[in-house]
Amino acid sequence: MQYLKIEKEDGIVQITIDREDKLNAMSLDVMNEFISVLDELEKDSSKVIIITGAGQKAFSAGADIEYMSKIGPTEAEKYAIRGHEVLNKIEKLEKPVIAAINGYALGGGCELALSCDIRFASPNAQLGQPEVTLGICPGWGGTQRLLRIVGPARAKDLIFSGRRINAEEAMSMGLVNKVFSSENLLSETKSYAKNIAKNSNYAVGISKMLVNRGMDTNLDTGLKLEIYSWSL
Ligand code: CAA
Repeated sequence: MQYLKIEKEDGIVQITIDREDKLNAMSLDVMNEFISVLDELEKDSSKVIIITGAGQKAFSAGADIEYMSKIGPTEAEKYAIRGHEVLNKIEKLEKPVIAAINGYALGGGCELALSCDIRFASPNAQLGQPEVTLGICPGWGGTQRLLRIVGPARAKDLIFSGRRINAEEAMSMGLVNKVFSSENLLSETKSYAKNIAKNSNYAVGISKMLVNRGMDTNLDTGLKLEIYSWSL
């Protein structure tokens, strides 16, 4: 792995996007590495995954703008599809994934955090979907996942304006679960992950699936899925 640093301890896996000089922007190489790591995590015995960014400044500043400026529609479509593959894998992983947002989470960086189950942030975090300022719409699920997390009015505010919000505002709209000081963000996230890891992998995994399915189905179907899962 060149751009992802993987650390494993007591069933907790920390994935650090390690491209600090480019504010952890996610090039195609970064996304390809994510696919390899997530393929492993689907099969192994790890219990909780943490995603963060290297350095003090950024979780991830998003898709790689330099790369985007050089490609045509065919490559752009491949890049968008790759982004969706990564984020869908995170969302469908039958283990909790926590984003530890340690700075900028913009565009694809914010979308990466949206695909995680829980979002913790440091006070210097800045979240946003600035794509419209670049003349494009969000491309890695921002229009769909932000809508489901904060509701249509807030999602439209953030997407139409491209404005950045701080950790406090993000928490006030349910986009961030909790804010920890920059020094404590990772240790608090790990300690939270360790508490989850004490619980049944199956029960946590199936609960994640049920909540996720519940967002996209009607109440009746969601409740039936719960009865079925509970009785297994
Ligand atoms: N892609 C590639 N490189 C990036 C980048 C990105 N998204 N964001 C920052 N960088 C690079 C800069 O080019 C710079 O590299 P050099 O030192 O080689 O010039 C380095 O990271 C440091 O960045 P800045 O000098 O700009 O740092 P700053 O502190 O002045 O500003 C910032 C920080 C406000 C986050 C600014 O870097 C910025 O606005 N970045 C772009 C954020 C953005 O628009 N993200 C959305 C991308 S599009 C997307 O993600 C589409 C999608 O939905 C999938």
